[in-house]
Amino acid sequence: MVESFFRKNLGRLFTGEKEIALENRIPSFEELDSKFRDIQELGVYLHIPFCDQICPYCPYNKEIYHSQVAKRYTNAVKKEIDFYVDIFGNKPVTSFYIGGGTPTTMLYSGIQDILLYIYDRFNMQCEIHMESHPNHLSADNLNAIMSLGVKNLSIGVESLQNRHLKNLRRPYDAAEVIDTVKRAVSKNFKCVNVDFIFALPTQTCQEIEQAGHTLVEMGVDQIAAYPLFRFPYTKMGSEGNESIFKLSTILKRRKMLGILEKIFYKAGFERTSVWAFTRKGIPKYCSVTIPLYIGLGASGGSYLQDVFYLNTFNAAEYIKALESGKMAFALSLDLSVKMQMAGWLYWRIYETRFIKGDFNKRFGKDFDLVYGKYMKPLAFLGFLKDDGEQIVLSDRGTFWLHAFEDLFSIDYVSTLWGTSKQEPWPTKVTL
Ligand SMILES: C[S@@+](CC[C@H](N)C(=O)[O-])C[C@H]1O[C@@H](n2cnc3c(N)ncnc32)[C@H](O)[C@@H]1O
Ligand code: SF4
Repeated sequence: MVESFFRKNLGRLFTGEKEIALENRIPSFEELDSKFRDIQELGVYLHIPFCDQICPYCPYNKEIYHSQVAKRYTNAVKKEIDFYVDIFGNKPVTSFYIGGGTPTTMLYSGIQDILLYIYDRFNMQCEIHMESHPNHLSADNLNAIMSLGVKNLSIGVESLQNRHLKNLRRPYDAAEVIDTVKRAVSKNFKCVNVDFIFALPTQTCQEIEQAGHTLVEMGVDQIAAYPLFRFPYTKMGSEGNESIFKLSTILKRRKMLGILEKIFYKAGFERTSVWAFTRKGIPKYCSVTIPLYIGLGASGGSYLQDVFYLNTFNAAEYIKALESGKMAFALSLDLSVKMQMAGWLYWRIYETRFIKGDFNKRFGKDFDLVYGKYMKPLAFLGFLKDDGEQIVLSDRGTFWLHAFEDLFSIDYVSTLWGTSKQEPWPTKVTL
């Protein structure tokens, strides 16, 4: 009740909207063409919605891998690429991310084909960042991944203790995953990231401390440590009663993150986003870094300044649409300037530091005039430092400001992804 009151009123204050609703208004070719006309550079996100298993906590769009579906999916993605080639031609693509699901399910059944197609047609000026699953990282598979040109690899480790791996239904034990990560680290990637989930049911601070040390000892370049989020439409989300808005849950997370921060900083890592810590001097592993991007594949989202498009989540429907010569857009949302500014601030807080002048470059408005009234009290509380040009969040500010952002994002994501998973072509989704 209190949460929804806050959400409604603060949402209105920051976005200027009574409600945010995505609708199935599909753009014409001409409309899209005009959206791309002034864009100088783009990011590309490619979604691979297949996994060998469905984990009980995972909110992402995925289904069980079948080779025949992967084959048709590959051809559908190529058709989607053809469509965009006509629109943005030779503009540089300066950020490229392959996420999932589990992209490595398609290591020998389509990924290479899609990448060759992309590099042949788009003006690619960036490295590949790709997610992978620990069970797909034999020495041969790691070599195959490197030969695709992937320079930055992420591995979903999740936990380093057998009892938690078992609860999370992960198909490996701690000793196996440590070996796998070390094997990946010994290869020539620029950045190896591992994903780690903490604040698991009954997890102790001692276990977190032990895992923190093992994480740095494995020699990885980056650690993304997420607290367990419970999305209501996942199995674990519908079972647990640890709401992230409960003070005890928030304090448990804060304490555990504090333990990890201490270990990571001592080992020479620095914070590069709310949940990520990167070895100093190593470029960070991250999703698309360019403000404007297109999303390929089922559930791919495209952000084009004043509009956001979302593809259907259903892989079969995605394939069917592209096979019949249509695009797979299911929903769109027009973004007012105030909404774009709120989105910009959300992501800068996520990254924990930003240059105020970048806001001016993007929106032609002075940052302090728009958001100064919120920054001043936050600086006073020690949540951030403002040296006039740059704002840097403190560890305390990073945690609490993001806990505040979660008030919106977890609910928005649950509604949008939960509905899109159930209905391939929803008429309207109100956040
Ligand atoms: C797409 S998955 C990773 C790649 C691969 N599919 C795997 O499972 O190893 C992205 C990561 O998000 C994190 N994640 C997924 N569900 C989460 C949740 N409910 N709470 C916190 N982190 C979660 C996990 O660390 C997971 O590895
Ligand atoms: S955590 Fe990874 S393997 Fe598990 S369902 Fe999610 S995307 Fe698939």
